[in-house]
Amino acid sequence: MAMSEKRRVLVLEGSPRQGNTKIVTDWVLSGLGKKGIALTRLAVCDLNINGCRECAGCTGYKNEAGCQQEDDMLEIYDLLIDSDLVLWTSPIFCWGVTSQLKAVIDRCFALLTGENLLKGSRWAVVLTAGGDHFEGADLAVAMFRRLAEFGQVKYLGQFVAANCPDPAKLRRMTEVAEQAKAFGRELRRELFG
Ligand SMILES: Cc1cc2nc3c(=O)[nH]c(=O)nc-3n(C[C@H](O)[C@H](O)[C@H](O)COP(=O)(O)O)c2cc1C
Repeated sequence: MAMSEKRRVLVLEGSPRQGNTKIVTDWVLSGLGKKGIALTRLAVCDLNINGCRECAGCTGYKNEAGCQQEDDMLEIYDLLIDSDLVLWTSPIFCWGVTSQLKAVIDRCFALLTGENLLKGSRWAVVLTAGGDHFEGADLAVAMFRRLAEFGQVKYLGQFVAANCPDPAKLRRMTEVAEQAKAFGRELRRELFG
């Protein structure tokens, strides 16, 4: 890919509020920078995305998602396939990602049932947690890693902000901000070499 070509970055934001995860995601994106980046941010909680109904309708399609449900996921399928980087973000809710983001993840199955349309994608993850790394963030990271492996997606890593206080306090945590920005810079190096 030519250096001059814009890298398409899709951020799938799983938090239901504009709180900790948004703050940390903003830091990561500021490290990633704006130059040469075409950014799409989608707050999945504001969209209409149902869970997978396991109807197997997608299994009849080879080169498209072929999902039988006509909701906002149809737009996300194209973005997932076309993006140079997908950044999944979520707070940890009960040892996993939010149910709204999990619906998107489950619906990705429609991209794997025919020809693998996720193959060669690049994924990274941003998580925030009220507890430490082992109160659910570890499990969410494992889920993303395993799914990426299954889908032959290149997993670029994760930034986990554990022991998050309320958003007002988090905003003042300059060390976390610097670490998150450094992660964003790493992602930039992955995209531009
Ligand atoms: C319903 C609910 C469940 C939660 N479950 C966990 C959990 O299992 N582990 C954890 O570390 N934090 C848990 N938390 C804390 C959130 O992960 C943490 O406050 C997060 O930073 C909130 O991000 P947000 O402001 O973007 O929503 C939970 C919070 C809520 C509201």
